[in-house]
Amino acid sequence: MSNVVEVSSLFELELDLPNNAIAGATSRLIGFETRYQRIYRDLRLMADPEEVRAWSKKYHHKELAVCTVVADRYPLVIFAGDVGTGKTVTAEGVCDRLARDAKRDAMLFKLSTRVRGSGKVGEMSSLLNEAFEAVVKQAGKSRHAFLIIDEGDSLTSSRDTAQSHHEDKVAVNTIIQKVDDLRRHSGRVLVFLCTNREAALDPAIVRRAARTETFDRPNDAEREELLRADLNGINVTDQIIRELVQLTGPHNGRPAFTFSDLRSKLLPDALCRAFPTRALTADDLLQAAKEVRSSPVVKNT
Ligand SMILES: Nc1ncnc2c1ncn2[C@@H]1O[C@H](COP(=O)(O)OP(=O)(O)OP(=O)(O)O)[C@@H](O)[C@H]1O
Ligand SMILES: [Mg+2]
Repeated sequence: MSNVVEVSSLFELELDLPNNAIAGATSRLIGFETRYQRIYRDLRLMADPEEVRAWSKKYHHKELAVCTVVADRYPLVIFAGDVGTGKTVTAEGVCDRLARDAKRDAMLFKLSTRVRGSGKVGEMSSLLNEAFEAVVKQAGKSRHAFLIIDEGDSLTSSRDTAQSHHEDKVAVNTIIQKVDDLRRHSGRVLVFLCTNREAALDPAIVRRAARTETFDRPNDAEREELLRADLNGINVTDQIIRELVQLTGPHNGRPAFTFSDLRSKLLPDALCRAFPTRALTADDLLQAAKEVRSSPVVKNT
């Protein structure tokens, strides 16, 4: 079974890094830089143990034991949070920036949901093995490789529940095993697991994460920053911006708009009211903000 699987069917994306399209999308993300700087050093401890050793020799004149401790962590980062809060785009952006800042070529892989296979016994675990092997192989001797497991809860949910089928349990075991094996590659292979159901993840996966980053719906200041950036060039007063911020915040029992709600629902809805016959007005924006509904909060269980 395994030898007929094409590598391309294991991944929905295989991309050389740095990548300008990812950098472009990243530059439009509110709060990315702050988040990136916050996690950058930590990720580099895993992604570049040689640099940590060099630092140790430079400032401590020997290789400190703590260098081994930080390098020995599991190269797994969890991005957890509600729908549309930027987990996937941030994971791609972080990989791109890590490649740029390390000044090394890297390869980004995104695991395809096709690795779930068609339900044959052992198929999912065999496909997962192949996917991890393909990533490790690409990393080669000197390159970095990043693997994003998106909607990761579908592959790594707790083995300890009644709904957990035998095949799913085997898949979780395989991922745990593979993440353990990746430690041999001295931080050259890094896995990002994105989920909007962190509580459903298997504890053995959660325990291994060297870092968990939480993603929330944008607060007032972040919604304002996004609106000001995206409405740049349109004559919208501060008063209108304030109203939009308020209308897109939590109210009438509904949660605040997600980043995705703002960009994929609210702004296109407003634009549709004007396009193609007239200019976009503040009223279009206010009407859209009143009528578009925010995404319901995903039940994190
Ligand atoms: N920090 C941000 N600033 C501005 N826009 C953002 C930000 N994060 C996300 N977005 C917008 O929301 C869209 C959805 O983001 P993304 O797909 O990464 O969300 P997600 O957290 O992975 O959601 P899901 O849980 O549904 O997979 C992005 O394409 C982008 O337009
Ligand atoms: Mg996502």
